[in-house]
Amino acid sequence: MKKKNILILNGSLGADSGNTSVLIERAQANLSKFETEVQVIHLVKDDLKYNLEDKLNWADAFIFTSGTYWDSWGSPMQLFLETLTEFEGSTCLLFKPAAILISMHSVGGKSVLSRLQGILNTMGLLIPPMSGFVYALTSHLALDSKNNSFHDDFWSLEDLEIIIHNLVTAANKQQNFKSWPIDHKDPKRRWL
Ligand SMILES: Cc1cc2nc3c(=O)[nH]c(=O)nc-3n(C[C@H](O)[C@H](O)[C@H](O)COP(=O)(O)O)c2cc1C
Repeated sequence: MKKKNILILNGSLGADSGNTSVLIERAQANLSKFETEVQVIHLVKDDLKYNLEDKLNWADAFIFTSGTYWDSWGSPMQLFLETLTEFEGSTCLLFKPAAILISMHSVGGKSVLSRLQGILNTMGLLIPPMSGFVYALTSHLALDSKNNSFHDDFWSLEDLEIIIHNLVTAANKQQNFKSWPIDHKDPKRRWL
């Protein structure tokens, strides 16, 4: 299998020292298990204006990342999406898979994920199954608790292995996608 180039585009305000950068490090650790070369761009400080097309052509697959700020992605990501519009539907994007990693405190991140998946797919990128992830401070604290019988219902950092597997699977045009753990106990059971 030919080595795949993975471009990570971080739209968080915290750049390489924020919470989202920890998700990126975990994603990189999982990517290292595959034949990949990885580049990380922190959009708040790396100016992509002059070599954007080269970077997009270099990439076989993308990981978009951001924190959640007032129910949306970071302003560096918004600016990037506006710049990327020039390449909508072009071969440097078309059918290339994109995973998305979002961090947040407690509310709004799933909507950020879903909206970003919709935009990227509209621009021409492929959204593989189970390739989007939101990690919340509330989940991080809850997962720490020993009597959490809802564990499988929460996204956890371990799920990044599945996300990366599915991204690389799609980049290799394979179909052996994996599912993260699902809570198959009664989803209607009382928790309050
Ligand atoms: C200006 C600002 C607005 C935020 N708004 C939200 C929000 O709407 N919902 C939420 O769950 N967390 C919110 N947060 C928390 C961040 O999403 C969270 O800390 C995230 O991990 C930040 O990523 P970063 O450290 O990579 O920048 C906000 C943080 C800041 C600084």
